[in-house]
Amino acid sequence: MIPKYYEFQNSTKILSGEFALENIPTELKMLNAKRPLFLSDETLKQIGTLQIVLDAIEKQDFKVGKIYTQIPPDSDLELIKKIAKIYKEENCDSIIALGGGSVIDTAKGVRMVLSQEIEDIRNLMGAEILTYGKHIPFVAIPTTAGTGSEVTAVAVILEKLKQIKMEFISYNLLPDVAVIDFRMTKTLPKKIAASTGMDALCHAIEAYTCLQKNPMSDAYAISAIKLIGENLIESVEKGSKIARIAMANASMMAGVSFSNSMVGLVHAIGHALGGVCKVPHGNAMNILVPFCMKYNMDKIGEKYGEILLYLAGEEVYLNTPKDKRGEKTVKIIEEMKEKLNKLTGLPITLKEAGVKKEDLPEVAKKAINDGAIIVNPKEAGYEDVLEILQEAY
Ligand SMILES: [Fe+2]
Repeated sequence: MIPKYYEFQNSTKILSGEFALENIPTELKMLNAKRPLFLSDETLKQIGTLQIVLDAIEKQDFKVGKIYTQIPPDSDLELIKKIAKIYKEENCDSIIALGGGSVIDTAKGVRMVLSQEIEDIRNLMGAEILTYGKHIPFVAIPTTAGTGSEVTAVAVILEKLKQIKMEFISYNLLPDVAVIDFRMTKTLPKKIAASTGMDALCHAIEAYTCLQKNPMSDAYAISAIKLIGENLIESVEKGSKIARIAMANASMMAGVSFSNSMVGLVHAIGHALGGVCKVPHGNAMNILVPFCMKYNMDKIGEKYGEILLYLAGEEVYLNTPKDKRGEKTVKIIEEMKEKLNKLTGLPITLKEAGVKKEDLPEVAKKAINDGAIIVNPKEAGYEDVLEILQEAY
């Protein structure tokens, strides 16, 4: 059903595949950028991923202005201000971000400070508060296949003093260019490929079933689910070029989808688990997804049944009676979890993830105050969430 009103935007230009990295200078020139600030992290520097990008760029007679690699997993406001200062001191005119969600989100934060020409971005927290501001050309190169941050209108930044994760949502956060190149995800460890892949699957499933869905976000969600169904296990087990590129594309499509729809219960509980018990996001998604789907089943079983076709293919779909397809989708996801556990040791239960049982009430309390729970297709209160957590333990 088409909603009475919806908005959709994916203005990020995508470069995917052979020589994508070599095409970055052309894109920067078209954006009138001559001196980019290059942001990344120490691991990517050490394993040589950063050098691959620099070589590809320099081969095209293009030099970056300044390289900064001291970005931690959860960067905060102070670091963002510091990087914005470096940008100005070094006379940079654009940003390249190479990394996972944290590097790309840090870059989004730096760009916000520079384009809005303010130091304190705390007042810009929330949805659509950002005005267009000064345009800072921005190229994002993801090295994981999960967050989709390279194409989302979302940035999550830590407020260190209050220990809260600030969420900024605006179409003005969208990078100008997203670059998908096999050389960037080739070295992704199996376990990270598994957990980030399950995060992408959750983005697509929740975007396809939440209350803010629309026909455009559906199209991206379905394509993402199909690619994940066909490629996630191979991408983890063999790391083949075809499967890794497919997963990077799936993650991007799932990102476009949820950025223009929303997520739901899995993310609401996952955010709380991350906050209270420090469970990594992808691990939480992997553990929770079948349990939350079972909870939602009586409300949207039919929608979950539609997903079966894309996740498991025509044969499984046609051989499953219509009223059993939703449950079969959950079964397929449980089997995926088992396989990923065997291949990488990715935890299947909260207990395996090191969560203490006495923390579950606190997690449930936080989850029911998370923004994502509002758009879940079925209302969920404290007792419901606690029950899901106990089942997932
Ligand atoms: Fe996520």
